[in-house]
Amino acid sequence: MTAILSARDLSAGYGESRVLRGIDLDILPGETIGLMGRNGMGKTTLIRTLIGLLPALQGQVLLDGADAAGLPAFARARKGIAVVPEGRGVFASLTVMENLRLAATTGEWTEARVLDLFPRLGQRASHRGNHLSGGEQQMLAIGRALMTNPRLLILDEATEGLAPLIRDEIWRVIRIVREAGVAVVVVDKTVSAVLSVVDRVVILVKGQIAWSGPPEILRADPGLMHRHLGVDA
Ligand SMILES: Nc1ncnc2c1ncn2[C@@H]1O[C@H](COP(=O)(O)OP(=O)(O)O)[C@@H](O)[C@H]1O
Ligand SMILES: [Mg+2]
Repeated sequence: MTAILSARDLSAGYGESRVLRGIDLDILPGETIGLMGRNGMGKTTLIRTLIGLLPALQGQVLLDGADAAGLPAFARARKGIAVVPEGRGVFASLTVMENLRLAATTGEWTEARVLDLFPRLGQRASHRGNHLSGGEQQMLAIGRALMTNPRLLILDEATEGLAPLIRDEIWRVIRIVREAGVAVVVVDKTVSAVLSVVDRVVILVKGQIAWSGPPEILRADPGLMHRHLGVDA
């Protein structure tokens, strides 16, 4: 099976400062990966490099097995890579429906399906982005990403700053998306929630992959959890 996105000996960073080193990663169709690691370890930088917002300094990003170096972020998006960035990025001056319709493509993730997934968005249909709560903005950002009918959905800090009930709703939707066969990469600080939804965990420490494996193995290793995630199981 050809990976949707891959990193091969990938290094990237900002100007002179190299953040990622020697990253090798394959994101396969339909798999759910938890990208984990403490603050500042390079998770967002890896996402930005994979989606084409940051150039590789060394090594490669592959999209469907082909070098993606010449493909800007919008072209990668068109090939089925959707991102819900940290901070969400909904259009503040557009309504919920306008935000959703901007992203619409032909496919199974229609406006109706997204509103079914997040009934709250239907209730807020004519509200502008800047009049939504943080949770509603995150629902809108996810809904918008789904309306591009992605093969891969990447969520950076999926539930950060949200109330517990809204978090539950985001995790519920991530499960539905996963069961629909869309590949998912999720970053989130709620370790137990991440471990309960993913097929595989990738842990970054100082820009390198320090550990990768199934969530059950990680959960059964309190030392590893403590060392890399700061969590006492
Ligand atoms: N725009 C930037 N310019 C310079 N350094 C940055 C920038 N963004 C992040 N960094 C640095 O890169 C490292 C990794 O950050 P980041 O990828 O945001 O980590 P994470 O998402 O795991 O918290 C940190 O040391 C951070 O300070
Ligand atoms: Mg981050």
